[in-house]
Amino acid sequence: MGILAGAFLTVHTPRYCTYEAAFEGKLASEVFRPVRDGLVKQGRDVAEVRADVVVINSCHLISTFPTVVDGTPRHQGVLTAQEAPELIHGVAYDYPGDYELAAALVARGKAHGHQCILANDIHYPLDYGTVMPMACYLDRAQRTPLVPVSVCLSNDLDECFAWGRYLAQVARESHKRVGFVASGSVSHKLVRGPERWPSAEDQELDHRFARLLADGEYEKLWGWLPEFAATTKAEMGGRHLAMLLGAVLESAQRFTSRVHAYGPSSGSGNYVVSLLGRW
Ligand SMILES: [Fe+2]
Repeated sequence: MGILAGAFLTVHTPRYCTYEAAFEGKLASEVFRPVRDGLVKQGRDVAEVRADVVVINSCHLISTFPTVVDGTPRHQGVLTAQEAPELIHGVAYDYPGDYELAAALVARGKAHGHQCILANDIHYPLDYGTVMPMACYLDRAQRTPLVPVSVCLSNDLDECFAWGRYLAQVARESHKRVGFVASGSVSHKLVRGPERWPSAEDQELDHRFARLLADGEYEKLWGWLPEFAATTKAEMGGRHLAMLLGAVLESAQRFTSRVHAYGPSSGSGNYVVSLLGRW
């Protein structure tokens, strides 16, 4: 029987996410150091759960009507981020994929009446919210098969939560150890100025979110998520957070929590939290 081996809330802020910033001490500012160091620690957590495949829901892989699950057997390309070419340019990636798991996830979504697409195309690109956390921190060796899932604008939080549940079900039936990564901010009221923090009120809400997550209060958190997302303008409406909660709530696993860091980026709040399956 397969399992959801771990679930990870991670960060893709471009300034945290260059090789130089991570490992050669060229941070743009000390304000970014805690999250950078947290991401390095989260990379060790990902290694610790020994995932056979990682499913990632990035806030920058955006679809409008269907949920897209990328089952391409090999994700190979070179990324220059459209919205930050000065920070992320020419980053080569070459990850295996997992067509079988992606197809099973899409089949489960279709069976429940969701509009969804299974991509299988060597030209389907990876976005920077996927490449940067994975290639710079979480799987630098690029050995673990990767299945990107889009954040779909037509999905409300319930639908995103359902996709998380389907993922946990498919993981259980897969005979694989499946990792899940939610790549996105918590509060997300963007302003110009990379080092700017969220307001004190939004920081407090972010901290409450992380405390509930760390304490395993997933039901409570799911009940509060719509209000949290609306008040803090959570990235992509909190869709990635809903999928994360659906996955951990559906899983039979209990999780050990590690809260590694919190930091700002252009007014947004960013948590690095790992939930490692206990068995
Ligand atoms: Fe983002």
